[in-house]
Amino acid sequence: MNLQVFTDGKAHGRKITMMTCYDYSSARILRQSAVDAFLVGDSLAMTLYGHDSTLPATTEMMARHTAAVRKGLGPDRALIADLPFLEHRGSLDRAMDAVRALMVAGADAVKLEGIRGHEALVGHIVESGIPVMGHLGLTPQAVHGLGGYRVQGRDKAAAEAMIEQARTLQEQGVFALVLECVPEKLAATIAAQLELPVIGIGAGSDVDGQVLVQQDLLGMNLDFSPRFVRAFAATAEDWIGAVDEYCRAVQEKRFPAAKESFQ
Ligand code: KIV
Ligand code: NA
Repeated sequence: MNLQVFTDGKAHGRKITMMTCYDYSSARILRQSAVDAFLVGDSLAMTLYGHDSTLPATTEMMARHTAAVRKGLGPDRALIADLPFLEHRGSLDRAMDAVRALMVAGADAVKLEGIRGHEALVGHIVESGIPVMGHLGLTPQAVHGLGGYRVQGRDKAAAEAMIEQARTLQEQGVFALVLECVPEKLAATIAAQLELPVIGIGAGSDVDGQVLVQQDLLGMNLDFSPRFVRAFAATAEDWIGAVDEYCRAVQEKRFPAAKESFQ
């Protein structure tokens, strides 16, 4: 079972690593990395399609990218797909159609943001035998309701409400929980009090694992650098350097060389 990495990680105190992946070619490369689990995040609406929020992500889009990533990863790496907001806030039938599309495309599980207003849906999906990952804290699909991208759970009441919501998700049988932009003490409390593996992004290091967006992690994003992101490579600079060298080589007739041409 691909999702075993989450339970095993929590049980043995070994950190769980997760990152987004949206396409076949990066999946082919990243399957050779040590990353435990991949996420087809609805962040693709922003990262790949240039929208200014995740709201325009559709089920069709998510399923298409999930299928491409699954092809690149092979069958035995954990792959989770985000359920787009406007689908799971529609009717139960519509939500289940979306869940089905993502699972048929090759996901091992779906991720849903928040809990208020769709407790019944989370329970229903879990009871249908589909693993669900929760997502609390800054839930970008609710950005308009939250009044922008900012840290969540700062005051006591909000912190207590988040702990309660995490507990509810655990009771409903979700297998893991993403906490996004949450004060590190609150995230640590939730990770310590619950059996659920807690995967943080902007939630400090005292949680059970971390998730980052691929483009942020690899330094491909030149115009967005929130506090919680670390670029572990300078990919954008490397790409520009490589492409400029290609341009120079073409101008100077160093490319193509004889061995790259047909005689
Ligand atoms: O869509 C996404 O990339 C996410 C992660 C940031 C957790 O939901
Ligand atoms: Na998301």
